[in-house]
Amino acid sequence: MTNWLEKDKKQLHPVYHPKSHANALVIERGEGVWLYTVDGQKILDGMAGLWNVNAGYGREELARAAYDQMKQLAFTSNFSGMTNLPSIQLAEKLSGFAYDGLNTTFFTSGGSEANDSAFKTARYYWKRKGKPTKYKVIARKGSYHGVTLSATFATGLEKYQTMFGPAPDGFVHIPAPNPYRYEGDLKPGETVGQAAARALEEAILREGVDTVAAFIAEPVMGVGGVIVPPDDYFPLVRAICDKYQVLFIADEVITGFGRTGEWFALKHWKVKPDILSFAKAITSGYAQLGGIQISDEIRETMESAAESEAYMHGYTYSGHAMACAVGIKNLELMEKEDYPARAKRLGKQLLEGLKTLSEFSFVGDVRGLGLVCGVEIVSNKETKTADPALTSRIFKAAQERGLRTRPLGNVLAFAPPLAIHESEVDEIVKRLGAAMDAMV
Ligand SMILES: Cc1ncc(COP(=O)(O)O)c(C=O)c1O
Repeated sequence: MTNWLEKDKKQLHPVYHPKSHANALVIERGEGVWLYTVDGQKILDGMAGLWNVNAGYGREELARAAYDQMKQLAFTSNFSGMTNLPSIQLAEKLSGFAYDGLNTTFFTSGGSEANDSAFKTARYYWKRKGKPTKYKVIARKGSYHGVTLSATFATGLEKYQTMFGPAPDGFVHIPAPNPYRYEGDLKPGETVGQAAARALEEAILREGVDTVAAFIAEPVMGVGGVIVPPDDYFPLVRAICDKYQVLFIADEVITGFGRTGEWFALKHWKVKPDILSFAKAITSGYAQLGGIQISDEIRETMESAAESEAYMHGYTYSGHAMACAVGIKNLELMEKEDYPARAKRLGKQLLEGLKTLSEFSFVGDVRGLGLVCGVEIVSNKETKTADPALTSRIFKAAQERGLRTRPLGNVLAFAPPLAIHESEVDEIVKRLGAAMDAMV
């Protein structure tokens, strides 16, 4: 039999360390929520790839959309002076789709490029508004925003930065509103949401109102351990951003397109960003596509700019014709199959199922919103001591039982395809329970 892993050494994988990739699964095909390896294993993909394959694997309609568009026109430059039909149609479809007043889309190939574009756009905006000293970005500890140089240092997880410093100037981190273990200071009588929002206000004042361009946040923090914020947090954040003229960038790369039970997650709290970053589920992972949406106010500053102040930003693959055609078809599927409603209903089932595992002495917290859930593993429920080693053992035991989850420090994450069925949700809980049983 071919030794695929030996051959695979010619490829440098994302977040690479030789140890972490030693026993990689070699996936050959997928169908629905199931992945099949070259050596015959069948695995329930509890992570929808990397939180993105919302429509599930093997969708004929999406393959057909790519094929038809590639045959007609796979690519043409989308730089000024040329455009293509799928990018026009997708931008039109997305206009106002996520939030009122966000009617303009700039396309990228993924989420890191989207956030990089968001930061540059925030700087551009403030220069056009005559406030060029506003360039800093405030982000949260534990956040993940991608791996371009700027996204790496907007990210609030040190391990992504250790080998890539020095950090560029202008990225500041504040505590995240983690209801299970809040790391900031909590005043008597204050809620975690209020304290975490206060941390934003204090950071703006400490850095200087005239230096802060934007605040960036994932509505539900993903890689940082699936942190669902308290309900009072984002309305307070929005008010603070307005008070100090700070743009609010919502990084909805994971939470966008139905994952949390709303098309976009800030809707849960009736809050609207100034810039929205999206990627992943726009195509359910069938093509590489991301982007930002900007407010009409930001768009206006571009329309009235002198030529010397042009928005000199863009990627070869901005508005890629095939990727946009897949995005259009995928949106059509997601609307037809009402993915936000599915995520709400099946997410409730998943969360309730996972909560039954709280009886294990090492399950400290179970949380989620729609179809994104986290199970936090601790060595002591009283002290909430994180246990990443046990988390990793449970992850491996689950994989041996045909369930793919993702260990994020001491949290096991679940974000299955939104196309998942009831019986498959039960299967996740059953297999995870069996893996946990093997630990006791
Ligand atoms: C919230 C968030 N933002 C940005 C990114 C980066 O996206 P990409 O890997 O497509 O560059 C990710 C990827 O997981 C993410 O979870």
